[in-house]
Amino acid sequence: MKHLILKTSAFLLLAGSLALRAEEIPLVGNIPGRNTTTLAGEWSYIVDVQEEGYYDYRMNPTPWGFFQNAKPQTPKDLIEYDFDKSDRMVLPSDWNTRDQRLFFYEGTVWFKKDFTWHPAEGRRTLLYFGAVNYEAHVWVNGKQAGHHVGGFTPFNMDITDLVVDGNNFVVVKVDNKRHAEDVPTQIFDWWNYGGITRDILLVDVAPVYVENYSLLLDRKDYGLLHWKVRLNAPVAGKRVRLSVPELKVDKTVVTGADGTASLDVKARPELWSPDNPRLYEVCIDLDGETVKDAIGFRSIETRGKQILLNGKPIFLKGISIHDEKAFGGGRANSAEDAAVRLGWAREMGCNFVRLAHYPHNEYMVREAEREGFLVWSEIPVYWTIAWTDPGTYANAQAQLRDMIERDVNRANVIIWSIANETPHSPERDSFLGRLATYARSLDNSRLISMAMEVTSASNYHNRLQDNMHEFVDVVSFNQYIGWYRDVDDAPKMTWEIPYEKPVIVSEFGGGARAGLHGDKGERWTEEFQENLYIQNTAMLDRIDGLSGTTPWILKDFRSPRRVLPGVQDYYNRKGLVSDDGRKKKAFYVMKAWYEGK
Ligand code: GCU
Repeated sequence: MKHLILKTSAFLLLAGSLALRAEEIPLVGNIPGRNTTTLAGEWSYIVDVQEEGYYDYRMNPTPWGFFQNAKPQTPKDLIEYDFDKSDRMVLPSDWNTRDQRLFFYEGTVWFKKDFTWHPAEGRRTLLYFGAVNYEAHVWVNGKQAGHHVGGFTPFNMDITDLVVDGNNFVVVKVDNKRHAEDVPTQIFDWWNYGGITRDILLVDVAPVYVENYSLLLDRKDYGLLHWKVRLNAPVAGKRVRLSVPELKVDKTVVTGADGTASLDVKARPELWSPDNPRLYEVCIDLDGETVKDAIGFRSIETRGKQILLNGKPIFLKGISIHDEKAFGGGRANSAEDAAVRLGWAREMGCNFVRLAHYPHNEYMVREAEREGFLVWSEIPVYWTIAWTDPGTYANAQAQLRDMIERDVNRANVIIWSIANETPHSPERDSFLGRLATYARSLDNSRLISMAMEVTSASNYHNRLQDNMHEFVDVVSFNQYIGWYRDVDDAPKMTWEIPYEKPVIVSEFGGGARAGLHGDKGERWTEEFQENLYIQNTAMLDRIDGLSGTTPWILKDFRSPRRVLPGVQDYYNRKGLVSDDGRKKKAFYVMKAWYEGK
């Protein structure tokens, strides 16, 4: 059958290409501050339902896969694909909203892009992806460049040895099929948007460069900054200069044998807050190359049942948000779109956003920082995760690491969330306990939380009982009185949270079809949702230690689980704003309640 006869020349070509390959390398921080060239634009794509481009007919990986971007060399050659005659898609984007054939598609799509590159002598070339959902295999000029699993965190690879001076091509195999051992697992209440959904960049760096750094205000001493820097290699003796001109900070550290350095720096910055989202230009110099950032300085901590921002109690007037465009669905990936959705949050009176249930695009986090929104950022350890699978834990830990590595210098991010609505078990407790401990080992400047679930001690008495309480700084839980339980129960509800920690109600709410009006007892009317919010906000006022809430959810969002014709039509309708930007009556209930806070 096909490919059983290898020509000598082809075999030698194959052997040579396998010798050259690259791999994923640790995440480069502050990509917007680097020397980048975008690969956004038109890419060719091939929908490959049976992964013909990757496996032979015995399901063995084939050396003749689509990643070769091969062309017939003689009239009798058999090549059964051609990127250049295939459809085109403008990337970055999910594929579901770009090609109606792919609206529900879960499988492999191949993407190919030609690019011209002139690498400077002695420089390195990295290839960076803001996110690819869910699994990516990457080749450059037919040679393996990297492999990544996880749909919402960035990754990069060094392709210096794969690119040539002149014309190159990159091929990406994207597969968004769901599996029980994945993170998230195979069921989740959001659309499984597949594709290269965030920025694709070539990054020009020196052989030794600043891989990442953090510049954080001390939690207690607001005149002290903690500066840490890490090179991409264990090179000692490198002088790295930090300057913050407006604070008259100009310090140089020398890296140790492991390529890292740290320093405590005295400075008295204006503190970042929602009322004053003050950012400072920060410059990091190594060997004459400067990486610039805009960093805010604030302290976040808890005291008993209070959350303290810069030492003062704050009530988190929040809203939950999915990483979906303001209008019409699809993955978001721009400051402009972030500004539209944050504008709705601002109008509601919010100072806080829960970016559910996975790390959002970097434009959203940075726009929220510029506009003064505090952020809850979360990894998709959601519902029935494979708690005993070592690969699942490694995947969750890698996503947690990369979420923190990317946003460690974002002052507005105050909470790292490690889970949502996970069923209690010893295996789950062990998995999440390890994750919480790991998060603190990477960043002890922020709060740890997760969205828990209350257990009903009796029909109207709700007690929060979760072994994970000892691992988190803030105990948060979701409740749906009025939606999954009768709204008339709300006034009778009592809440028992037996932990001396701040409480966030990380979800509550109910659905409404925008424009559908009727009696408040009629499900799916705006009046039903409005009454639900009236009853819930009154009930929230009775929860001892409530430090914030993030109602579910800002905007209607696509979900394959929501199929009621004429009402849901594959949208989850719990939004306070419809998928076409109309504010529902319940929006104004939240707005009024926050005004009173
Ligand atoms: C859960 C879950 C959400 C989901 C919501 C709902 O609380 O955390 O992801 O969308 O319920 O039922 O709408």
